Amino acid sequence: MKMIGIGLTTLGLVLSTTFATAQNMSFGANNFYRSDNVTIQPVTFQNQYEMTVAGNLFIHNHFNRSMHLPAIIVGHPMGAVKEQSANLYATKLAEQGFVTVSIDHSFWGGSEGKPRNAVSPELYAEAFSAAVDYLGTKAFVDRERIGAIGICGSGSFVISAAKIDPRIKAIATSSMYDMGAVNRDGLENSQSVEARKEVIAQAARQRWIEIKGGGIKYTGGTPNELTPDTPAVGREFFDFYRTRRGEFTPKGTTANLTTHPTLSSNTKFMNFYPFNDIETISPRPLLFISGDQAHSREFSEDAYERAAEPKELVWIPGAGHVDLYDRVDLIPFNTLTQFFRTNLGENKARRT
Ligand SMILES: *[C@@H]1O[C@H](CO)[C@@H](O)[C@H](O)[C@H]1NC(C)=O
Ligand SMILES: *[C@@H]1O[C@H](CO)[C@@H](O)[C@H](O)[C@H]1NC(C)=O
Ligand SMILES: *[C@@H]1O[C@H](CO)[C@@H](O)[C@H](O)[C@H]1NC(C)=O
Ligand SMILES: *[C@@H]1O[C@H](CO)[C@@H](O)[C@H](O)[C@H]1NC(C)=O
Repeated sequence: MKMIGIGLTTLGLVLSTTFATAQNMSFGANNFYRSDNVTIQPVTFQNQYEMTVAGNLFIHNHFNRSMHLPAIIVGHPMGAVKEQSANLYATKLAEQGFVTVSIDHSFWGGSEGKPRNAVSPELYAEAFSAAVDYLGTKAFVDRERIGAIGICGSGSFVISAAKIDPRIKAIATSSMYDMGAVNRDGLENSQSVEARKEVIAQAARQRWIEIKGGGIKYTGGTPNELTPDTPAVGREFFDFYRTRRGEFTPKGTTANLTTHPTLSSNTKFMNFYPFNDIETISPRPLLFISGDQAHSREFSEDAYERAAEPKELVWIPGAGHVDLYDRVDLIPFNTLTQFFRTNLGENKARRT
């Protein structure tokens, strides 16, 4: 009995630690983290279509103005805004001495574009290139050393951008979603072509309504309330987007609309194939980061398989999809720092 008792106690400790982590989806979450060492400045710049893109610029306080610094662009999860996950990644990497900028994709947050919450994978990719324009024309940034990170849907947008913008020298993704594949086929190919056609038909019917001045309809995304029937993936997103953990409503926008794109534009994703030609990004390096428990892990696996060298796929043990938005104990900031230090080079004196 005694031996069993000891065994159970030991096991109990291990289990309760694991259990607490598994049960508490927001354990260690710190989406709104601010660093004493980093200054944030709201910025705006134009994309190639002369639409204003809003961002935040992050610079280390001990930043030396005679340096010529490497820079990193950070893209937020699909349907989110820069205040959700992107600012956190940007802050943590600015602490390491990179100039970083988080961006709002067009139609979201502070960036221009109508209607709000419209889907345009091309313009989302363009936002990364517009941020390269912006950073690369700053005196304190070395335009030969600009990298980018895409979180969730932005993982597919940054790959799409990098294929046609060789100014992005190193590319990382975290909890990547292939927004094309998931809209066409569902997670793990759970959506038939017939079901896809019904989604397309619905969007087409909605266009008739909108052209007559009828209201905008939104689709997809995070549930606004939990019910006993809310599936696990919905609960995971709810825990971030609809609670104090990650909820953020940009000025002048309607509450609870993050992650809800317009229904009539969402079908644009059906034509989005971010991983076609991914191998042409080589020899620029790709780093894919995913939780090994993530419901989205198939997308990182697929992209990794199709990419050419140099490439790396890093699994975070025990982590789910949303965990890598803000759970600072799980996000491998050291791995990201090393990746960008290696591939963008150490800080150098300004070359004039
Ligand atoms: C879950 O984690 C969050 C963030 O670390 C913490 O604030 C909260 O108290 C935890 N909840 C429980 C039930 O342990
Ligand atoms: C902030 O800067 C101080 C002094 O430069 C350093 O000791 C500390 O580790 C930094 N903190 C973070 C979180 O980067
Ligand atoms: C919308 O969000 C607010 C908080 O931002 C919350 O109090 C409210 O219940 C939400 N409404 C719906 C319908 O989800
Ligand atoms: C700033 O960088 C320049 C060039 O590398 C160096 O000479 C100078 O000592 C640095 N200044 C500070 C305060 O670190």
